[in-house]
Order: sequence, then structure tokens, then C-alpha cells
Amino acid sequence: MAKEAVAKTAEQLGKEQRAISVAEFFEKNRHLLGFDNPTKALLTVVKEAVDNSLDACEEAHILPDIKVIIKTVEENVFRVTVEDNGPGIVKQQIPHIFARLLYGSKFGRGKQGRGQQGIGISAAVLYAQLTTGKGTLILSKPAKDKPTHKMELKLDTTKNEPKVLHEEDLKDGPLKHTGTSITLEIQGKYIQSKHSVDEYMRQTAIMNPHANIHYENPPGEKFNWKRSIEKMPKLPTEIKPHPHGVEMGILERMAHATASRTIASFLQNDFCRVGSTSAEEICRLAGLDSGASARTLTGDQIKKLYESIQKVKLMRPPTDCLAPIGTKMFEEGLRTEFKPEFVRAITRDPVVYRGNPFQIEAAIAYGGSLALTQSGEVASEDAVQQPVKLIRYANKMPLLYEQSSCALTKAVQGIKWKRYGLEQSGGGLPSGPASIIVHICSTWVPYTSEGKEAIASYPEIIEEVKLAIQECARDLMRYVSHKARGELAEKKREIFRKYSMELAVSIHAITGEDKEKLQAKLLKIAEKMYKQQGGDEIEEEKPAPAHNEEE
Ligand SMILES: Nc1ncnc2c1ncn2[C@@H]1O[C@H](COP(=O)(O)OP(=O)(O)OP(=O)(O)O)[C@@H](O)[C@H]1O
Ligand SMILES: [Mg+2]
Repeated sequence: MAKEAVAKTAEQLGKEQRAISVAEFFEKNRHLLGFDNPTKALLTVVKEAVDNSLDACEEAHILPDIKVIIKTVEENVFRVTVEDNGPGIVKQQIPHIFARLLYGSKFGRGKQGRGQQGIGISAAVLYAQLTTGKGTLILSKPAKDKPTHKMELKLDTTKNEPKVLHEEDLKDGPLKHTGTSITLEIQGKYIQSKHSVDEYMRQTAIMNPHANIHYENPPGEKFNWKRSIEKMPKLPTEIKPHPHGVEMGILERMAHATASRTIASFLQNDFCRVGSTSAEEICRLAGLDSGASARTLTGDQIKKLYESIQKVKLMRPPTDCLAPIGTKMFEEGLRTEFKPEFVRAITRDPVVYRGNPFQIEAAIAYGGSLALTQSGEVASEDAVQQPVKLIRYANKMPLLYEQSSCALTKAVQGIKWKRYGLEQSGGGLPSGPASIIVHICSTWVPYTSEGKEAIASYPEIIEEVKLAIQECARDLMRYVSHKARGELAEKKREIFRKYSMELAVSIHAITGEDKEKLQAKLLKIAEKMYKQQGGDEIEEEKPAPAHNEEE
């Protein structure tokens, strides 16, 4: 029988109040981390591990070799293994990295990376134990001549601490040089759709042409994306926070923990773009002595300091903390994947939102395999009028879910596509045999949730995406209209060629002139007309300078 509800006193309530561990919270709220349905859960597990592998390889300046194998254990249960040739992980860190939420090396460090929260891989481990009760197996070799550490782990959710179920050092493990391998058993669902792991792997390969990627899906199909570039991409450097992007509470925490002695040195040492003149100016506006201690600033003084920081003009943050893929590599990846008849990529200059530098890259690929059906035939007019395929990336990671709530999508939808020769109904995505690809890189990507699926709608971001795509769209429009003119002229030429012989025969009957010579003359006239009507070779034009035509 249900217990009757009784009124409680503050004292009784007090006895029930307790701190909740972050792991316990996410155990109940796993949808916040991308584990809200079995299809998405399988993708999230793979994504968290692959993103970490690519990040680790780049940090160690190693060209990545990534292996992803998904085997079906029983219906809707999968064994996922992700292996990399990265730097490996030292033994004492393995339990914390894989079995403790909010533990990592990338949080708030002022450098572009796929990971940023320190929660991704331990959330996957937690999901595995929640759904199959199994621990996660880690193999890691941090040095070529050292043994491989093998550990089986679970996460103690009441304490958010690791539980080591088994550990040993292997002399001859499967990892040859350095690297890490993770194997999890999870409940999930495998489907082949635009949200599938297959699609995530394909899109990851486009954006990471410096990686070798081997992938085996549950039906046992094997995919190999060989690296097309034997060089590490440009690697981002780390920057300190920019004062204009720091909130008051963070300023207070930083001031009280600083190693600098004075307020002036705190401003210069702990932030970027603050020189001695600006530091003095900030203190003067705040009515503070620049030589006073930063560690003992009161709440009131912090408020004044914060307000005067906003008033002082400072240089924008440096942008070598960003590493866009670059126009050439971007186009190369798309050519390999779509074999398009036209492709154009644009990398915009870096800009800033809330003190965080970010940079937008966009591309349009048109025609080629995008105009074919899945069985490789030329699609009908109707099929070609399907919405374009939109591919979104953040810090080189594909975003497969939450397309409609993402700022990158909103920017594409906000363009008046008819101006660029593509159909668009009801402010949605344009239609045509094309793919639009958008990439945002930033030191801090403003995701709408911890699951890292969509970008928050900052006006600065939407504006930059629009500018980048419009630039590509202008070139696409030129290409398509050039091609249409050429096709029309070609049609006319064909008709003329057909009738030129008949015409030659008729003229011969009247004038007695040689038929072959007459036809040759007529064809020469047709050729001249054809060239005048733009039927010559279609060339791609250079991109025009960017400006917003929507304004
Ligand atoms: N394959 C790997 N090789 C080397 N180090 C790794 C590997 N995977 C994870 N790490 C380390 O473990 C840390 C925690 O990883 P985790 O995925 O939980 O968080 P993150 O990548 O920092 O951020 P996010 O939550 O956004 O993914 C990383 O910051 C990194 O230092
Ligand atoms: Mg991660």
C-alpha cells in the first residue's frame, strides 16, 4: 500500500538533504550527454572515443592511425573497440580518465580541441555499466619499450570515483608503438541512416585527411580511409583568456588564485592582450591602486575592476589558438568523397564572440555523386529537387543530431537561396544536387548541451556562416549559369549539325555546288555561333571578395 503523504518539518527535510555526486546526476540524466536513445548511444560512444584519439594524436604530433570495430554480441548489444597510435596514458591516470566524470586536460585551456569538458569518455564507461553491467577494458602503452597497461574499470557513481576490477602489465600486448585502446560493451541500435556511425566515420574522414581510419560496422563491412595528406595539419597553440570574455565570478576566482603579486601584474600575466599601459588604465578607471594585491580584492573592488575592463579598448585575442582545416585540404576531402563537378571552400578570418576567438569555414559541393541515386544512377529531376545535404562540423567533429536547432543550420536557412539559383521553400534548406558543409572552430564552442550536438545561436556566429556560404554560393551560381548557357548552345549546335546535310542537299539541288563543301561551310557558321553563345570550356572562376548581400 502507498505511504500517505505527511507534512515534514525543516528538521526532517534537513535529514534528507545531501550532496549529489556528478556521476549520480548523470546516471539519472544520461540524455544530457547524448545517450537518450539506443541509436544515438552507439554513435556517442564511438564519437567520444574517436574524438579523444584524434585529439591525443594531434597533441603528440603523431599522424593518426585509428581503428574502430563494432561487433554484435546479441540483439541490440554491441562490443565497441577504438584503438589509436597516440601518446598513450600513464598508468596512474587511466582510472581517473575513464572512470571519473569531469576529469581531463582540455577544460578551459584556450586552445581549439575536439574535447573540452572532461566528461566524454567516462560518460561512455558509465553508460556501458548501466546498460550491460560490464566494466570497460583499457589497454594503453605510453612508451615504445615499456609494457602495455591493461585495466578493467567501472565507475562508483555515489562517489564519482573509479573502481579498478582488474589490472596487469602485458609484455607483448597488441599495441606496437604507443597508443590506447578502449573496449566497451553497450546496449544500442545500429541503423544505416544520416545519424549512423557509418555516416559519422565518413564525415570524420572528410575533415581529417591526415588520418588513416579503419572501420568495421556490425554487419561486418570494412571501410578504409587512407590519409591523403602525409603532413600534420596546422596545430593550435594555447592562449590565455581575453579580459573581455571573462565573467565577473571567473575574474574573482582568477584574482584570488593568481600567482602575481599586484593587480597590474595579475592583469598582464593572467590574460592576453593586456600591456602595462592598459593595466594601469584599467586600475585608474576602477579607482584601484595598481600595486595593491590582487588576491585580497573585495567583491566590490572586483565589480569595479570588471566594469573598467569592459571600458578599456584592447586588441582582439590572438588567433593562432585556432586551426581551421584550410581551403585546399577542405576541397580535397570533398573531392575525394563526393567526386563533385564543382566544389568551393572558403575560410573566413577569425572573429570573436564573448572574448572567444572563432573561425568559420564553409563549402559547397555540387553535382557528381550528389546527383546520383544510392544505386549510382542519375537521379530524376524530382530526386534532384530534394533538400541539399547539410554537413556540420565543430572543431573538426561531425555534428549529426539536433540539426534544426543548430546555429549553423539557421544561418544556411537564413540565406535567400533563390538569389543564388537554388529552390527554397518556406525558409528551409535549399534544394538541389549539392552538399553544404559548415565548420566552426573555436577555443570554446558554444554547444547547446553537453552532448555536443548543436551550436548556440550567437548572432556573430550566424553572420559569419552566412558570409562564408554566400561567397561559395556566388561561385556556384556563376558555374551553374555558365554551364546552362553552354548546354543550350550545345543543343542548338547538335540540331544544326543534323540539318546541315539536308540543307546542303537542297542547296546543291538549286545551285549545283559540291554537297560536302557546302556542309563544311554551314558547320563553320554553326561553330562560330556556338562560341559566341558561351559554349566554350566552362571554367571555375576565382572567388569574389566577401560582403553580405542579405543586408
Ligand atoms: N585516447 C587517448 N589518448 C590519450 N589521452 C586520452 C585519450 N582519451 C582521453 N584522454 C585524456 O583523457 C581526458 C579525458 O577525456 P574525456 O573524453 O573524458 O574529456 P575531454 O576529451 O577532455 O572533454 P570532452 O568531455 O569534451 O570529451 C582528456 O582530456 C585527455 O587528456
Ligand atoms: Mg573527449
